[in-house]
Amino acid sequence: MSRISLFPITTEVNDKNHLVLGGCDSVALVGEFGTPLYVFDEPTLRGKCARYREEFGQRYANTLIIYACKAFINRALALIFMEEGLGLDVVSGGELAIAKSVGFPLERVYFHGNNKSPQELEQAVKWGVGRIVVDNFFELSLLEEVAKEAGARPDILLRLSPGVDPHTHAHITTGVVDTKFGFPMAQAEEAVARAMASSFFELKGLHFHIGSQIFELEPYREAIGIVFRFAAEMSTKYGFSLQEFSPGGGLAITYTDDSPAPTIGQFADVITSTLLHRSHEVGVEPPRLVVEPGRSIVGQAGVALYSVGAIKDIPGVRRYISVDGGIADNIRPALYGARYEAVAANKVEVDDLEQVTIAGKFCESGDILIKDIDLPKLVPGDVIAIPCCGAYCLSLASNYNASLKPAIVLVNDGKARLITRRQSDEDLMSHDNV
Ligand SMILES: Cc1ncc(COP(=O)(O)O)c(C=O)c1O
Repeated sequence: MSRISLFPITTEVNDKNHLVLGGCDSVALVGEFGTPLYVFDEPTLRGKCARYREEFGQRYANTLIIYACKAFINRALALIFMEEGLGLDVVSGGELAIAKSVGFPLERVYFHGNNKSPQELEQAVKWGVGRIVVDNFFELSLLEEVAKEAGARPDILLRLSPGVDPHTHAHITTGVVDTKFGFPMAQAEEAVARAMASSFFELKGLHFHIGSQIFELEPYREAIGIVFRFAAEMSTKYGFSLQEFSPGGGLAITYTDDSPAPTIGQFADVITSTLLHRSHEVGVEPPRLVVEPGRSIVGQAGVALYSVGAIKDIPGVRRYISVDGGIADNIRPALYGARYEAVAANKVEVDDLEQVTIAGKFCESGDILIKDIDLPKLVPGDVIAIPCCGAYCLSLASNYNASLKPAIVLVNDGKARLITRRQSDEDLMSHDNV
């Protein structure tokens, strides 16, 4: 597999040997917008939305795809997801406000989170979000008060933690017994009983999310089995009806050639076939299916561009190539040991390669973007392009070292549109009083 296949679907190499994204020469983009620069390719983004809609829709028509904003959201992307007919999974008042600001249909918004504040719940209820996904007993009581006060009757799902291990990184595993997210199965019956007894909300169904960057699909089968058996038991005991079911998101993407991820089609196959099989087996009506992909929609669409600065040789040890971004815009390598590929965007296809380490510019020894990668001989001013940076990079970005968050452009058909401008020193200081 070539590294280029990890980049957005429109990626090409032009006759100057430059990387071209969405018909735009990446070196020219750097000239116009500076670095670090995040480039999102619109055809890749829309293509993933369509792939999810089609792969699930053709197997199970009663499916809603909702994009998990935590992977990355801004207003331009929210508009694209709206046009693509997706819903949104939000986890904060901020993500909800972004959705509302572009006129996103709020009935297609699901509000998640393990510690929603009273103000966030009030806003969600007032604005009429589609579902509140209740995570714990404290939230059940809080939401009851909020709904009573507002004179509303929100529709809710309960988030369960089915106790299966998806074998991904511990920081992004969420469905095991010892997790801060959701009701453990041992408390799930009490949660259903309490929710059904309340007249302040309507229990529509059940949700789980077992983790992120998941390569093995078997844990989904296992978790669906557990939740459907539970739903059948709750139906017998309390007359509960599973109108809606969500297995969350979590599908992995291919960051490096040696770790290929399952396809969206394979994911859809496992989820829908297991849902149908288990519904039949336990005797419940097949519910509406709600799938919440984040990374697998936006990951491949995003490319990070950096300029090379200082180069340091430690003879016999390694050559460090420092770039003008790093841990502040992409914390994943430091946080999860995440691995990436890269190319030199201004000299993509070169035979003579050498092994280097790409370091960030921030004051942490752990600020290494890629350890030991073969790249052409680099000099200051060269441009490094890292693929698969659409998810969990900018959404986890910080102003560490009082750095400025990068600019973001959306490319399509040879045109680049600035969708988030680079922060300025004024932005950085705008909240401080002296
Ligand atoms: C509840 C929930 N749904 C969906 C997602 C999206 O996961 P991913 O980006 O791996 O698809 C997450 C992220 O961890 C999540 O917590």
